[in-house]
Amino acid sequence: MPILRSSSLIAIATVFALTACNDIAKDTHPDQLVTKRRGIFKQFMRTLEPMGMVARNRKDYNPREFNVSALALEKLATQPWAYFTQDSNYPPTHAKPEVWKQPVEFKQAQENYRTTVSQLVKAAQGGNLDIIRTAVNEVQKSCKTCHNQFRND
Ligand code: HEC
Repeated sequence: MPILRSSSLIAIATVFALTACNDIAKDTHPDQLVTKRRGIFKQFMRTLEPMGMVARNRKDYNPREFNVSALALEKLATQPWAYFTQDSNYPPTHAKPEVWKQPVEFKQAQENYRTTVSQLVKAAQGGNLDIIRTAVNEVQKSCKTCHNQFRND
């Protein structure tokens, strides 16, 4: 029965389409707040990655290049937070409701993060690889601490 077979294929295709849709739920906010803050977090990740590789001896330490990355991360560190406005808890966000329920703690996590990034910039300027390694670890820890508290994985 070709008709039955094709309709069940359509049913399967629909299920896949819905699943795919769920994963990339559209950001319907006129200001695209979730999309914008996520874009900045992705830059956090891309900027930190080469420094993480240096810290783990998987990439040569080039002081000038490392310094540029550290400064770029410092510039980014202030940027995502303005996009967490009162009306910005909507799908497809992965932020936990705690972002809005515990604003003081959320702000504190941002401050802690910024402090670790400033230390990284100082370490980069100092050029001592041991100190740099510790500083990179501290930055990564503060990303993770905030995610544990304020982001659904
Ligand atoms: C003060 C809290 C906080 C800090 C610090 C923080 N993040 Fe996040 N991050 C979040 C929240 C909240 C989200 C979820 C955003 C959303 O989906 O609306 C997120 C999302 C992300 C995402 C996912 C972006 C996407 O496309 O969905 C990445 C990647 C990420 N963060 C990387 C990092 C890295 C790397 C660091 C440190 C260098 C970091 N974050 C520091 C709170 C933080």
